Amino acid sequence: MQFKTLPGFREFYPEECLQRNHLFSVWRSVARSFGFAEYDAPILEPLELYIEKSGEEIVGQLFNFEDRGGRAVALRPEMTPSLARLVGARANGLKRPVRWFNIGEHYRYERPQKGRLRAFYQFNADILGIEGAAADAELIALMVQSLRRLGLSSEDFRVRLSDRLLWKVILEAAGLEGASASAVLGVVDKMERLPREKTLELLTPHLAEPDAWLTRIEAMMAQVDSVEALKAFLDELHPSLSPDGQTLAAARLAEWQVLLRELKMLGVGDFIRIDLGIVRGLAYYTGFVFEAFETSGDSRALAGGGRYDDLVAKLGGPGMPAVGFAMGDVTVFDLLKSKERLPPCFQKPDVAILVEGETGRGSALQLATVLREQGCSVEVPLKAQSMNKQLKAAQQKGAAVAVCFYPELAEGAEVRVRHFADRTERTLALDEAASLVLATLDQAAFPDEL
Ligand code: HAM
Repeated sequence: MQFKTLPGFREFYPEECLQRNHLFSVWRSVARSFGFAEYDAPILEPLELYIEKSGEEIVGQLFNFEDRGGRAVALRPEMTPSLARLVGARANGLKRPVRWFNIGEHYRYERPQKGRLRAFYQFNADILGIEGAAADAELIALMVQSLRRLGLSSEDFRVRLSDRLLWKVILEAAGLEGASASAVLGVVDKMERLPREKTLELLTPHLAEPDAWLTRIEAMMAQVDSVEALKAFLDELHPSLSPDGQTLAAARLAEWQVLLRELKMLGVGDFIRIDLGIVRGLAYYTGFVFEAFETSGDSRALAGGGRYDDLVAKLGGPGMPAVGFAMGDVTVFDLLKSKERLPPCFQKPDVAILVEGETGRGSALQLATVLREQGCSVEVPLKAQSMNKQLKAAQQKGAAVAVCFYPELAEGAEVRVRHFADRTERTLALDEAASLVLATLDQAAFPDEL
């Protein structure tokens, strides 16, 4: 019987591993260019960490079980609660703001479908210990630059920007607070994917006039595409707000102005769309929320994040403002494939060492060791074959240089070095071979002088 992988889990053949590593190295280098430091956390965590902290949607998708010690545990569905614990535990000793990133695998028991698997990688980047929209802007810029560095442009993707606190104001104006405000926000989150009838049905228990409210919200979502339009909308809401609500509305408008200005100065203004339809399913967000989407808009999000100022304290740490995002490998790869932007990834040996007969084998293996110590990738023959066959195989594999040990040359301590790109060959003393090969690899041709 042939075993299969579990649904939603992937195997990575070497070419796929190369592609994946390319993605990771772009993520890593962009994160470092923004001054972020890499951290890591366990894959298996106490179940408790996610209950209530992550929100219903994720809790319903946990890979959880009891370990042999009777502990309730879960494979991590996301990084944010672990990060909040890590930072909270050392809050006093850490220089603020903390700028940290991680690349790791996460697990969610979702129905496998396009863009959604049960095991996927995320690039998480977060800034903790600082309030204010400049940090939010920095992260959105990091998110955009990570996608740009993969060869994508503002024609390919957009960042949709929204605000949970603004939603608090909008819901207060409709007389909604506490559990019913959360419930309505949950409906708004799904609205885009639901028929209008279904949305109305879900809103009905919470609102006196759901149809009128929904019509107003739909108009707001369509119209609010600039700070000016946002201001006009908030002015309209003003009379229905409490004094606290009015203060909050004014403060949010000021924050929006800062955020959009910063984003523009960071050179990513073209990628941003105000879109109050974004709410985000996770429970812990407390301010701006954002998601990156393919421009055609018919795929799942490439990345998502937002501000979560209460989570560190909820996990036992001190009060600590925080903002961050995560980008997934699955949707990013789907987009790169559909745009034909996947970089060609091949692994080629630098040097193929070829041996005919046994006479030169000892010297050949010694040369391989010397070159490997110099950082070259070197393949040696593992079985006896004719020199012609070995040369053909080395060329097919894309080796730059072959060092051939013929029995008749080996006796005189000589080798023949072949340079595949220009089909030139040189016969020389064995003890000169290492320097010639190294010089050739540096110059991509035989050097004139050794
Ligand atoms: P999230 O929106 O749940 O946010 O996930 C972020 C990204 O991870 C998604 O946009 C998607 O690319 C990818 N992703 C999520 N689930 C799956 C899946 N089943 N299959 C493939 N890809 C998936 C978070 O996880 C937050 N913790 C992000 C964050 C960091 N917020 C603050 N800091």
